Amino acid sequence: MSISRKRIVIGLLLMAIGGGGLRAEVPPYRRATLPVEERVEDLLSRMTLREKILQLNQYTLGRNDNPNDRNAVNTRLPAEIGSLIYMGSGPEMRNRMQRRAMEETRLGIPILFAYNTVHGFRTIFPIPLAQACSWNPRLVEAACAEAARETRLTGIEWTFAPMVDVARDGRWGRIAEGFGEDVHANAVFCAAAVRGFQGTTLSDTLRIAACLKHYVGYGASLGGRDYVPTEISRQTLWDTYLPPFEAGVRAGAATLMSSFNDISGVPATANGYTLTEILKKRWKHDGFVVSDWDAILQLVNQGRASGRREAAQLAFLAGVEMDMTDNCYRDHLESLVESGKVGIERLDDAVRRVLRLKFRLGLFDRPYTPERPETERFQRPEAMALADSLAAESCVLLKNDDHTLPLAPETRIAVIGPLADARDHLLGSWCGRGEARDVTSLYEGMCAEFGAENVRYARGCDFNGEDRSGFPEAVAAARASQVVVLCLGEKRQWTGENASRSTLALPPIQEELARVLSETGKPIVLLLGNGRPLELSRLELLCKAILEIWQPGTAGGKPVAGLLSGRWNPSGKLAVTFPRTTGQIPIYYNQRRNARMDQGSYLDLPDTPLYPFGHGLSYSDFRYGEIRMVSSDPMVLEVTVTNASSRDGAESVMWYVSDPVCRITRPVRELRHFEKRMIRAGGSETFRFEVDPLCDLGFVDEKGDRFLEPGEYWIQAGPRKFRLFIPEE
Ligand code: GLC
Repeated sequence: MSISRKRIVIGLLLMAIGGGGLRAEVPPYRRATLPVEERVEDLLSRMTLREKILQLNQYTLGRNDNPNDRNAVNTRLPAEIGSLIYMGSGPEMRNRMQRRAMEETRLGIPILFAYNTVHGFRTIFPIPLAQACSWNPRLVEAACAEAARETRLTGIEWTFAPMVDVARDGRWGRIAEGFGEDVHANAVFCAAAVRGFQGTTLSDTLRIAACLKHYVGYGASLGGRDYVPTEISRQTLWDTYLPPFEAGVRAGAATLMSSFNDISGVPATANGYTLTEILKKRWKHDGFVVSDWDAILQLVNQGRASGRREAAQLAFLAGVEMDMTDNCYRDHLESLVESGKVGIERLDDAVRRVLRLKFRLGLFDRPYTPERPETERFQRPEAMALADSLAAESCVLLKNDDHTLPLAPETRIAVIGPLADARDHLLGSWCGRGEARDVTSLYEGMCAEFGAENVRYARGCDFNGEDRSGFPEAVAAARASQVVVLCLGEKRQWTGENASRSTLALPPIQEELARVLSETGKPIVLLLGNGRPLELSRLELLCKAILEIWQPGTAGGKPVAGLLSGRWNPSGKLAVTFPRTTGQIPIYYNQRRNARMDQGSYLDLPDTPLYPFGHGLSYSDFRYGEIRMVSSDPMVLEVTVTNASSRDGAESVMWYVSDPVCRITRPVRELRHFEKRMIRAGGSETFRFEVDPLCDLGFVDEKGDRFLEPGEYWIQAGPRKFRLFIPEE
């Protein structure tokens, strides 16, 4: 054969190979150009039952803090595991584990790495309860995007957040992790967090998959304790606890986490109504549900399952796709499928959902994370600036008698209290990889803001205990100053998971320190660092001003000092009610109406809270004009707010709806819209509420169906009220 003919033959051979021959070696699920669903189906068709079941399990990697093998890969873990909760602070260990999955297994299915990035990864933002008080979803979304970036750069693609459990009992330590007592607020911030974490496409290498938790009703835990039952009617499920999750699903949340609580006799982790009827069939969620830690096994404790096998069957058939850490699925799903108790269709549906997310995240095509130093991954200037702004906007000025605040620049200040020099306690619970050494303490913030020569420090006392030996030094510091900035509050371990307290009052030693300092006659500015609403009735009497700083995160004392100096103008408003005493619980703004208006109060207390939902002062003076309807169809309401002060300030206008008569009795009022805007000194801004009658005026019944009744409705914004009428159809 001539050379030219040989060349033609070789050319044809190469074309054949290029055109499809070699391609036959690359299975469709490995081809990035194919649609996700096609790749899912191809891979699923190749998997054994064992391989499928391992995809539905999650363990941890990296808990081992043994300095000798801190970065060792846990070789006892099967590399075919579906997901690992990753405790590393860099991608190296995760990449080594991923290489085992990609190169040492039959199909090379990447592991999905997860973590609790709740309010930041290394740059820590204020706790979510504080973030809600900013009433700034745009800022919250940006913070979640920064948190996603730090998380993904560390080799983690999935966070167990946002937590959107409507919570109305401050005794419950997890009230710190959600967006407060209001349904609409939790829904709006949930969607903002999902957008921030996930961005517009999950394949973005700086975004992470969100996980709405804890599905559902965990915030109703009886007595504010943890892991206990909840009593929730179908009506309350639909009108209070489900809406934030629906908002998150509509925003595209990739996953949900089933909660620990028993829902009036049916545990959430074995609840086919919520997990399948609502989530999969009604809301058409195509992602998956992971159980909370050991929640499947806990069905035995809850008296729903006789043992681990039945627990696995109940949770799996109810609609929980992935088992977090208790091995019930690993140990029993195979025999459940082989015995026909679990159908292969349901199993394949579960595996499909897990694989779908892995493909969407791009894990098959980019299984490894670039190994960059911490300086490139953490605390970039944009993140730090955002942490500062969000902390400043989350603080709530509860009291400011005689315009005590802002403090004049040369004021001599005594910074006193157990929180004054603390760093880690400003991070709050679930503070990820946050480092106390990164945090600016309140004392440091005050020195930087007012000049160290003007600031004295004294600890005064510990967070709790009986030791009063620090009192004299604190009194001396107060006497030598013009004002006392008293820093009281909670240790970060006093809120979060399994951290319920029977009282909202601070430990007596802290109140005693306040009393002793008030006897010096110096004005007291109280800074409160806490993760729950507090009982402040006694402290309130001793202080001229109270600034609720919550747990502000890494920025810590910097924005707080800026609020005291007036560099920041306070703009936060409470997203949770502060009762007068713990005995008033449950007390929240949107309760249903009483049978008697002038009776039924406690004999020893008024039935109003100390600080209501939505309360928050500013250094500005905002005046509300009358509400006006500028259009009836579409229905548009407006209110003009004027800043009658000489200081620019941001105001959050909160629009409430009241329906005095309805076939299902409704809360006295319901927040349905809010908007925050800067209003220049002396200027005005007009705020609009574009009313969707069914969504904003209507209500939902116990089947989850929305309805709108004709009749009278009231709209409130600030002190203004507006009556409108929905005619008969
Ligand atoms: C915990 C929490 C949950 C967390 C999970 C993983 O028990 O309830 O919020 O995401 O386990 O750490």
